[in-house]
Amino acid sequence: MNKPKLVIGNIKMNLETSQARDEYITNSLEAFRGLSDSQKSAIVICPPFLYIESFVQAYKFADVAVGGQNAHQELRGKNTGEISPKMLASIGAQCVILGHSERRATGETLEQVIQKVINAILTGLTPIICVGFTVGSKDAQDEGKILKDEVNEIVSALNAQQVQKVIFAYEPVWAIGSGKTPTPEHIHTMTLVVRKAIVGVHGPDTKEIPVLYGGSITTENVREICVQSHIDGVLVGGASLDPANLARMSSLLNQ
Ligand code: 13P
Repeated sequence: MNKPKLVIGNIKMNLETSQARDEYITNSLEAFRGLSDSQKSAIVICPPFLYIESFVQAYKFADVAVGGQNAHQELRGKNTGEISPKMLASIGAQCVILGHSERRATGETLEQVIQKVINAILTGLTPIICVGFTVGSKDAQDEGKILKDEVNEIVSALNAQQVQKVIFAYEPVWAIGSGKTPTPEHIHTMTLVVRKAIVGVHGPDTKEIPVLYGGSITTENVREICVQSHIDGVLVGGASLDPANLARMSSLLNQ
């Protein structure tokens, strides 16, 4: 069988009540029931911090992983209101989304993202690093250069062991929540830029590091974007609010 294609749901600040959380969990267990083991294990759900423990408990026997949507860049200290990567790991999160454009819009810098990546790895979490947020232009050459520089800066800060532990997600900011996706060719080109930048710094042993796409993914477009390509899966926002969509995506991508 081919390498599984990941389907990562970013719930963002949705499921506003504990009742909505419980309904989501119930519906997702129902939706995942019909999937094969490999289709289930390709799914990761990243709920709000407060709900992580409930999701981890609920999915204990479902073979679905749970992740955070952020973690603080420092391991410990006086950081009011923050969540450390160790806290996430200790309640059963396996991964964490870092550097999402919605966080960078609040002032999170690339330097902070890099520190978050390093400390997430140190505590045993898999960082899902979002790149492409600065890209305003749809001109492939400009975009490629910006993306390459950004990935270069991140992977140059990691050693050979650390880099093997990361996942990248190419998320052009204009595609997030807009209902607009780049063409499959464009996504293919840009994710290849990410892959080449990693390999350019760390060599051919890193060519299997997962590179995902995120931005207005639906059950209708997921196959066209992923199936024929080297892309290793998708990071899903809006469509992940119905867990049946995540189940459908995993079964479409992992047949
Ligand atoms: P949408 O799927 O809603 O465009 O969001 C994508 C995203 O931000 C995933 O992290």
